[in-house]
Amino acid sequence: MTTLLAVDTAGRKVLVVGGGPAAAHRAAALALEGAHVLVVAPRICEALVDLHIDGHVEWRRDVVTPDDLDDVWLVHTATGDLATDARVAAWAESRRVWCLTAGAPGVTPGAVGAAASARVPTADEVNVALAGSGALPPGRRVARPDPVTRRDHPGRVVLVGGGPGDVDLLTVRGRRALALADVVVTDRLGPVAVLDELGPGVEVVDVGKAPGRHPVPQNEINRILVDRARRGQTVVRLKGGDPFVLGRGGEEVVACREAGVSVEVVPGVSSAVAAPAAAGIPLTHRGTVAAVHIVNGHDELSDAACLAVRDRSATVVVLMGVATLAATVHRALVRGASPTTPVAIVERGCTPTQRVTRAELATVVAVARRREVTSPAVVVIGDVAAPGLLEVDLEQLLDGSTLPVTAERMA
Ligand SMILES: C[S@@+](CC[C@H](N)C(=O)[O-])C[C@H]1O[C@@H](n2cnc3c(N)ncnc32)[C@H](O)[C@@H]1O
Repeated sequence: MTTLLAVDTAGRKVLVVGGGPAAAHRAAALALEGAHVLVVAPRICEALVDLHIDGHVEWRRDVVTPDDLDDVWLVHTATGDLATDARVAAWAESRRVWCLTAGAPGVTPGAVGAAASARVPTADEVNVALAGSGALPPGRRVARPDPVTRRDHPGRVVLVGGGPGDVDLLTVRGRRALALADVVVTDRLGPVAVLDELGPGVEVVDVGKAPGRHPVPQNEINRILVDRARRGQTVVRLKGGDPFVLGRGGEEVVACREAGVSVEVVPGVSSAVAAPAAAGIPLTHRGTVAAVHIVNGHDELSDAACLAVRDRSATVVVLMGVATLAATVHRALVRGASPTTPVAIVERGCTPTQRVTRAELATVVAVARRREVTSPAVVVIGDVAAPGLLEVDLEQLLDGSTLPVTAERMA
């Protein structure tokens, strides 16, 4: 016999056993509700480290023992190990403390739940209960409820700049937002590996392009964000790079505000700077160039960018510029750029398959074609793209004809 209850954990001690993403997700949700969360695990994942460093959860770095259940109101096991979860559930049972289990990878919650005294109800159970109590208007349904830990609070949207692809380049604040997410809306640009770390109940909505499939239109993405937040969910919109650099983040913010939905932006490391940096290309360099234009390759190269290339007064960084490379180069040359202007193309920057192609403006289209350059790539046009810009001539250094590089000279 099961009774659906909403449990108020605010100000109460809750034990979370386990250090992985599932434990992080549950610990974050409990901490958000104001619970005093004790995490017990020999090792914890980065999301939990962040929560611990920020003082949201306490961490005891050890194997769980019965003493860890002292004074707790609720236990949540999420070790991924059935035997450990069952052992902790048995301790909780003997102390009359409610216990939930997150299950193990590949094991249905019901199988583990046999040992646990409480569990998160299914959406259907909550819908039936709420409809029976008259709390839910006819026709309305709850999508992914979690009444054991969640009190009613307004949903919200967090636009997270995921950086260029390497999970290490996702910010601490971005990871923290992901640990609290009910839904992650992604287009699979950026640090997609982080999706594997999400807790088992987190829904992932892919609105990106896949082979043979068109991307979800922007107004539909906006609708998904608003709709989910209105259901009371915490929605993370995970975007590649920075949300506000050619990322249509501004439109998503406006859509949320128009709908009266709370929205926050977590800046990200833009591929416009990260991919060149990872390839050893500084976008500005003292004595070489001190300004940058970031442009959209879908548009014709602007007059300002053409001037910058011609006068060598700014580095031009083209995003989404692989398919239009020939048109971009043609326009720069027609507008007076030197054919010897250095160009670098950084494909899949900051990922294990990063590749850099260098050429001059006059030859780069042919070179890129020969090397079958593909998107995503960042095109850098200007003197900073010249090979060897940051290389030090060791022979000259050893000769003594060049003084060693000092901090002052580098500044
Ligand atoms: C729609 S724009 C999004 C840009 C993103 N908001 C940012 O700040 O990086 C997508 C373009 O970003 C660039 N891009 C994104 N990730 C990249 C990566 N890892 N390496 C090279 N270029 C990348 C490519 O030019 C790609 O076509």
